[in-house]
Amino acid sequence: MDIYEAIKRRRDVRSTFKGDPIDEGTLAKILMAGHLAPSVGYSQPWNFILIRDVQTRKKILEETLRQREEFAQKLDDDRRKLFNTIKIEGILDTPINVVVTCDPSRFGPNVLGRHTMPETCAYSAVLAVGNIWLAARAEGVGIGWVSFMDKDRVKGILNIPPHVELVAYLCMGYVTNFPEIPELEERGWNRRLPLSELVFMERWGMSPEEDFRRRLDETKI
Ligand SMILES: Cc1cc2nc3c(=O)[nH]c(=O)nc-3n(C[C@H](O)[C@H](O)[C@H](O)COP(=O)(O)O)c2cc1C
Repeated sequence: MDIYEAIKRRRDVRSTFKGDPIDEGTLAKILMAGHLAPSVGYSQPWNFILIRDVQTRKKILEETLRQREEFAQKLDDDRRKLFNTIKIEGILDTPINVVVTCDPSRFGPNVLGRHTMPETCAYSAVLAVGNIWLAARAEGVGIGWVSFMDKDRVKGILNIPPHVELVAYLCMGYVTNFPEIPELEERGWNRRLPLSELVFMERWGMSPEEDFRRRLDETKI
């Protein structure tokens, strides 16, 4: 699978997990793809916590369901009805969950580039997630990112030290199929924006010329 194909065919997966285990060789390759991500000042601020224990995952699921309910209460009736049909996690449907953290103290206070933008620590960890997501897709492994959680509660469950940030909670497993389009688009929750509306020329808010706008929207990868 070439890089564009992996980008195009990657999906956030919630509904099509099979539950059979990922062999350690494949898992190690996917994690290595994460570890090869760029990072601010080469600080490699990530750790990867692999969670197989079902009791631990049940505690996290409880937290996620609580957050789901709180979110549902904020929606109007139509939106809530739609939301109630959407699956937002695969915590127990997958053989393994992977938490990606970032440690802002790694290599001390003088990390090149992080001194002006401390948030680049988390950005680096997110790039590791991007690599993991694409590598997993190339291996036929699906990933669902779950952010319905109070980070501090989950950090407590996983013994993550206070200064370390929880960046991503990923449910990972083989799938029956990868959906062609994002599930949230399929369900009518949201749609992909035209690329031409997101590209500006030279200054914020300045649209490209018509020909290039058309090219942006018609380009296939
Ligand atoms: C930072 C982040 C957090 C997300 N959190 C959730 C989540 O809690 N539950 C969920 O179902 N999907 C979650 N997603 C997946 C998005 O809904 C999904 O990426 C989006 O709908 C586009 O679909 P695609 O990833 O298949 O292209 C998250 C994605 C990102 C990048």
